[in-house]
Amino acid sequence: MSETVENQGRRDFIVVATNAMLAVGAAAVAYPLINQMNPAADTLALSTIEVDVSAIEEGQAITVKWRGRPVFIRHRTAEEIKVAEAVNLDDLRDPQDDASRVENPKYLIIQGICTHLGCVPLGQKIGEVKGDFNGWFCPCHGSHYDTSGRIRKGPAPLPSPQS
Ligand code: FES
Repeated sequence: MSETVENQGRRDFIVVATNAMLAVGAAAVAYPLINQMNPAADTLALSTIEVDVSAIEEGQAITVKWRGRPVFIRHRTAEEIKVAEAVNLDDLRDPQDDASRVENPKYLIIQGICTHLGCVPLGQKIGEVKGDFNGWFCPCHGSHYDTSGRIRKGPAPLPSPQS
């Protein structure tokens, strides 16, 4: 009787130890398989960029590349901010107030791609055509964006997305 109880105790221990080893083994196999699905370090490095906007003077704009796409950063003048904030939202194709498109009203950061067919609008360089609303102008089919990057005239359906 006592031998049977002792054997039963050993069997329980062996079963528990085996299950524990199986769990550890499964975790050891599963971790690398799951971990390899995470993006690689070079991919993660491409997903974010840092730009020192303090070096951009008022009225100046720069273009940076993010994921192979142009991103426009404009240090808006007080006048440009005032005009962007004063726009009647009923006049907009896709109403968005200026405050919802910027974190700091001084700096507008938008994707530099026309929402019509994907051309890169003009208006970043000094002396370039900025369109009827002093923002950006897409010469491909004549879309005009305002100083908040919102579409105001032409075939583009949406404002330029913020970055
Ligand atoms: S791509 Fe810009 S207006 Fe057509």
